[in-house]
Amino acid sequence: MSDIRKIAVLTSGGDAPGMNSAVRAVVVSAINSGIEIVGVMRGYEGLIDWETQPLGLADVRNINNQGGTILFTSRSERFLQKKYREQAAKNLRDHDVDALVAIGGDGTLRGAIAFQNEGINTICIPGTIDRDVACSEYTLGFDTAANTAMEAIDRIRDSSVSHGRCSVVEVMGRKRGYIALWAGMATSADAIIIPEKWDGDYDSIIDTIKAKHADGRNSYLVVVAEGVTDAPELAQMILDKTGIESRVSVLGYIQRGGQPTAKDRMYGSLMGAYAVDVLKKDKANRMIAIKNDILIDYDIKEAIDIQNNQIDSFQYELSKLLAE
Ligand code: F6P
Repeated sequence: MSDIRKIAVLTSGGDAPGMNSAVRAVVVSAINSGIEIVGVMRGYEGLIDWETQPLGLADVRNINNQGGTILFTSRSERFLQKKYREQAAKNLRDHDVDALVAIGGDGTLRGAIAFQNEGINTICIPGTIDRDVACSEYTLGFDTAANTAMEAIDRIRDSSVSHGRCSVVEVMGRKRGYIALWAGMATSADAIIIPEKWDGDYDSIIDTIKAKHADGRNSYLVVVAEGVTDAPELAQMILDKTGIESRVSVLGYIQRGGQPTAKDRMYGSLMGAYAVDVLKKDKANRMIAIKNDILIDYDIKEAIDIQNNQIDSFQYELSKLLAE
């Protein structure tokens, strides 16, 4: 019989479609196991200020299809400081909370590791559109974001073809190129620029476009992950060196919103329920992850050290081969 009587749940960092399914599964699983559950608003910020609400089944009814996070979120600067983490830990203890479930990306995991020193048992669920939590093959929100980007690029391409232009489309991903690679490959982009593989070889992009132009093509698509290169400068370079009119579209926050796909709802549900199971087994400070499509859990300190989440070279090379 587990010692866990009451748990708190929060979402932190950039919101990601599927977070609501994870929250729902945590709440329903906890209640079904006789565990009381409290929702913490605005991520670690709400933990510091004790901005919470008790969660019952009615609070999480019909939220699987909602984008964003019903618990709201933040990137807490204060939580980086020990005095605020102590305050947050005191709040949890004062309210008899035995453990915390934190849903978010890399920053959330780092916050949980620091929190471990304050004696709080934290279970993390990977949720970020970037898919950049290295220990997990999947992070909640990626599938929805990649599909949103793909659909937007399909539309941009329609206009690009009509006008005979080159479209340079910037997608999100901060230090990871997954959204760019998946959305770019799904739309057969002529070039995909991602941080993991970018060697600064602009000439090869220009040469590709020139060769296709000589071959009779009238429109082109370059998908670039944010932060790798300056998209307007690249568009200008394409215009200068090829004479082809070029336009930039920055997809931005539309990639973070919208109804989650079935995959994000399913994985959110699985991970949320798994987190409660981990707590019922009296495990502490675990990171939930997907490996070989199976749910597993790591010690959170071990999880942060895993660095094997590189972009698959075969997929990247294939994206070039299939860009005809
Ligand atoms: O959540 C991930 C992400 O969308 C990144 O792809 C992007 O760089 C960043 O968040 C933007 O963060 P913010 O919401 O703080 O502008």
